[in-house]
Amino acid sequence: MRILVTGGAGFIGSHLVRRLLAKGQNHVVNLDALRYSGNLENLTDVAAHSRYIFVHGDICDATTVEKVLKEQGVEVVINCAAETHVDRSILDPNSFARTDVVGTAVLLEEARKAGVARFLQVSTDEVYGSVEIGSSKEDDALVPRSPYSASKAGGDLLVRSYWTTYRFPVLITRGSNTYGPNQYPEKFIPLFITNAMEDQPLPLYGDGRHRRDWLSVFDHCGGIEHVVRHGEPGCVYNIGGGNERENIEVARMILKQLGKPMSLIRFVQDRPGHDRRYAVDCSRLRALGWSPTVPFEEGLKAAVEWYRSNLTWWRKIKSGEFRAYYERVYRQRLEGTG
Ligand code: TYD
Repeated sequence: MRILVTGGAGFIGSHLVRRLLAKGQNHVVNLDALRYSGNLENLTDVAAHSRYIFVHGDICDATTVEKVLKEQGVEVVINCAAETHVDRSILDPNSFARTDVVGTAVLLEEARKAGVARFLQVSTDEVYGSVEIGSSKEDDALVPRSPYSASKAGGDLLVRSYWTTYRFPVLITRGSNTYGPNQYPEKFIPLFITNAMEDQPLPLYGDGRHRRDWLSVFDHCGGIEHVVRHGEPGCVYNIGGGNERENIEVARMILKQLGKPMSLIRFVQDRPGHDRRYAVDCSRLRALGWSPTVPFEEGLKAAVEWYRSNLTWWRKIKSGEFRAYYERVYRQRLEGTG
């Protein structure tokens, strides 16, 4: 297959590119705008691969997208390009509407015009909103509550509309909270790992008892690949890890593994509109033959080890643009704690 992965220099995208290259005879085109979290260092091991090509460009730019689809003879599109961090969406909602809604619309329309055989939208379980009890099924209502999840829901619904309107063969995956190597350290798990390694406080929002279902990036990519191969056009598939944990429990696991004191945990002012819990029912994807393989304890341990062995990777990030961002989100929160 000739596959276009957008956002292939990001966290999930780079793992997906690597996985697709390792399997069969896929040709992979990576289209990435290389904004703050896109990092070609995530792909140094495959940069010279004969079936891989990188194109620097934005999914919002129809001319670039049209050219890539045509020149590379793309058969399958997997859209991983997105703004993804809730706290950033609170600071700058418009960039989320731009990439996650407009970017998806542009990519989708160009893919339809080019007649690609399959279009997979990497969506998120956050589109269901906060789920206090039970778990979300694919046909549940979308009740997103942050500019991030609302933008992803916009993209998700647009993609679905192309099936009902044009019978364009789309697929949608809604993955749960993903973790693993190469995750930009603004997200909870890598932020807490790297802060702990630097003996910096771990800013836990609110009472720390919000719950997330943790999914290894390897299982997430396995799920995406499974849906590309076996999914039914027009269908949505939840992907969850089956590892529901309270944030405070995860923070404690990280500190324990690093041999750092629990006193590094700081309870700080909550995130506005903070969703209490996410949980997805994955029976549809399981019925298709997929199941997660990485137990959370093992996956987290491996992730901690990765950040321990890749100091240069994350220190470079944390000393750049990230510093100003961290100041904006955490300075006031952390003042006067500890
Ligand atoms: P995050 O990784 O931002 O993912 P999402 O909000 O999309 O689920 O956060 C995961 C959980 O961790 C969420 O409940 C918010 C919480 N959290 C903190 O307590 N402190 C932090 O500094 C961050 C980034 C997240």
